[in-house]
Amino acid sequence: MNKVIGVFDSGIGGLTIATAIRNAFPELEVRFVNDVEHVPYGTKTKEEILALSYPILKKLQDDGCDVIVVACNTVSTTAIVELRQKLSIPLIALEPMVKPAAALTKTKTIAVCATPATLASKRYSDLKLEFAQGVKVVEPNCANWAELIEKNSLGQKQIADTVESILKAGADVIVLGCTHYHWIEQDIKKAAGDKVTVIQPEQAIVRRLKQVLEQLA
Ligand code: DGL
Repeated sequence: MNKVIGVFDSGIGGLTIATAIRNAFPELEVRFVNDVEHVPYGTKTKEEILALSYPILKKLQDDGCDVIVVACNTVSTTAIVELRQKLSIPLIALEPMVKPAAALTKTKTIAVCATPATLASKRYSDLKLEFAQGVKVVEPNCANWAELIEKNSLGQKQIADTVESILKAGADVIVLGCTHYHWIEQDIKKAAGDKVTVIQPEQAIVRRLKQVLEQLA
């Protein structure tokens, strides 16, 4: 029987991941769920994020998913340890791509665009400590981006101003550390120009899912 993959995000961000998985594995059943009632999660506390996400993931598990992709950096960086303890299904987590960004930068400066909860998480600090020694990490204020993207109302000017501040700081790699921002990847790339590399984790998640499915087979 074909495997069933649950994909969860607070809102529309995770749809980009669900689409990448569907494209890579047309034979799998992909069930995408989100929490439109409570999006955005990125301005909530760890306790709130855990309390909101756990029942949704538990239902995906109980409904017969084989693997769940937590297509939300905010949930992954704040609550994945507790979620893994409480659930008995493989959970694939997303987190800001600090390691590849630090390996790519030539200016020794990277920018991480992410929600306030992700930027404040211990997991994110640990990623910087482990992989970004000697690299300056710029964290522009994207606090209202997810909410605005959810309503399709993040303006080009706000994107351009943010990218300009990133360029001024000297970054040559921009990490999209929130799946909502995948929807504006082309706008960010256009504003940043071709000397800057913009990275996001869709293909890395596809590769990770392949490994997990091979282990389950
Ligand atoms: N798309 C999510 C992330 O990757 C969360 C956005 C939000 O709900 O604030 O972080």
